[in-house]
Amino acid sequence: MNVENRYVTIKHPIEGKPLMSDFEVRTEQLTLEIQKGSKDVIVKNIFVSIDPYQLNRMKAESDSQKASILSSRISPGQKIDAHGLGRVVESGNDKWKKGDLITGLLGWEEYSLVKPWTEPNRIEAVDQFPLSCHLSVLGTSGLTAYAGLFHICKPKKGDKVFVSAGAGSVGNLVGQYAKLAGCYVVGCAGSKKKVDLLKEKLGFDDVFNYKEEPDLKSALRRYFPDGIDIYFDNVGGEMLEVAIANMNAFGRVAACGAISEYTDKKKQARIDMMDVIYKRITISGYLVSDYVHVYPDFVSMTSEHLSHGRMHAVEDISHGIENVPSALVELFEGVNIGKKLVQVDLLKEKLGFDDVFNYKEEPDLKSALRRYFPDGIDIYFDNVGGEMLEVAIANMNAFGRVAACGAISEYTDKKKQARIDMMDVIYKRITISGYLVSDYVHVYPDFVSMTSEHLSHGRMHAVEDISHGIENVPLALVELFEGVNIGKKLVQVSEI
Ligand SMILES: NC(=O)c1ccc[n+]([C@@H]2O[C@H](COP(=O)([O-])OP(=O)(O)OC[C@H]3O[C@@H](n4cnc5c(N)ncnc54)[C@H](OP(=O)(O)O)[C@@H]3O)[C@@H](O)[C@H]2O)c1
Repeated sequence: MNVENRYVTIKHPIEGKPLMSDFEVRTEQLTLEIQKGSKDVIVKNIFVSIDPYQLNRMKAESDSQKASILSSRISPGQKIDAHGLGRVVESGNDKWKKGDLITGLLGWEEYSLVKPWTEPNRIEAVDQFPLSCHLSVLGTSGLTAYAGLFHICKPKKGDKVFVSAGAGSVGNLVGQYAKLAGCYVVGCAGSKKKVDLLKEKLGFDDVFNYKEEPDLKSALRRYFPDGIDIYFDNVGGEMLEVAIANMNAFGRVAACGAISEYTDKKKQARIDMMDVIYKRITISGYLVSDYVHVYPDFVSMTSEHLSHGRMHAVEDISHGIENVPSALVELFEGVNIGKKLVQVDLLKEKLGFDDVFNYKEEPDLKSALRRYFPDGIDIYFDNVGGEMLEVAIANMNAFGRVAACGAISEYTDKKKQARIDMMDVIYKRITISGYLVSDYVHVYPDFVSMTSEHLSHGRMHAVEDISHGIENVPLALVELFEGVNIGKKLVQVSEI
């Protein structure tokens, strides 16, 4: 079978901050067949991971590109391999069978051909944690935090720990682990919302917004009057300089990332080596790929904490492969909170729809519906009215039923009103029923009992899209009409 595979690539090498105009989404035809004798596996991607290191691969030149095959240079037009989670759809390898859920090196694309050498991991305990956790708290970000904190910084009870990019994917987990290890933990992050999350939900002892501090060195002195024992560095640059200036003797720095330098080489940290020598500070650069051997210990400890509610997964999920570029761009603008993932296909993969199409990409809606319903439609649940209602009726079977629930396409433009072919309605004996939910209050108990039952058994899922702050109500409404929301749009106006 042939499918269209959309993938993200760069148009040219990127220097400085990434921009949307640096990327494009291309489409290729992919045959879902494994060649005889090949041990390849074809995976339909569900989640793909968005990570800062990808930017360094997109530069014309960077020393990081020589460190490992995983950080090698990406040329314009080339597919971009990335961590991901997906379902095996074809396999030439005895180790993997159709239907298996795996994590591993996939790509910023809808389908990935997985070579045997990349050795993906099979997800065995599918029901224990949400799937996305296998790329966040139980995935590479978690392992990076675990290895850097426990194997490099070796925390002792009472140690004073500072973590930068504290609300990021790695940073929030470092803080959570350090608290569980009995340390005093202060984080920094770039917005009030992030600061509140770290303090109120994740139990950091203190957190500050580094963008609001005119003098970072004295800010750190204020938060650590007795000095810093461990600095978990995600950002490099000035924050690394001032952390070292505030460190205690025998302080340890896990040099995990230097995101502030990725977009601007001039921001490189000027480290006071006298401080390093006289305070006997150890600064250890490391790569998570060197710690694969501790993976079983990491998973066992982290799952235990998660299942007892002592740790929390913080994830920030966008939807649709076309949103990978904006997801990467936003990492460098500090928009993400926690692990940034893109869910490639929400309706099919998570909610189990048999098929789904992007109506904006269909030049002819009537023939699109004919393609998806070669035997006709029995029920059309109409939320949009307009042309979609017209073509649905044209494709309906005899005795078809239409629930006329909403007509959002007409709310903003009366000219879009559906022109219904009444001959179709009459000869196919179609029923179109307008209704209002307020007429159905009497079925509320049945509705709640059936839905709760499905929810509690994981047969249904809530899909919600929550903004925060009363000031964001207007934007939330505006975005409903731009198709930005995914699932129920709510605005949280105060903490619970
Ligand atoms: N060594 C390894 O093996 C390894 C593995 C994974 C990740 N890393 C590194 O670890 C760091 C964190 O990665 P992650 O995946 O957890 O990303 P992340 O922290 O989830 O996302 C990046 C965050 O960095 C902050 N940021 C962006 N530009 C910045 C700048 N110019 N100055 C200061 N902060 C900036 C933003 O938060 P704010 O709102 O707080 O600014 C942003 O949300 C990165 O440097 C990454 O390259 C290393």
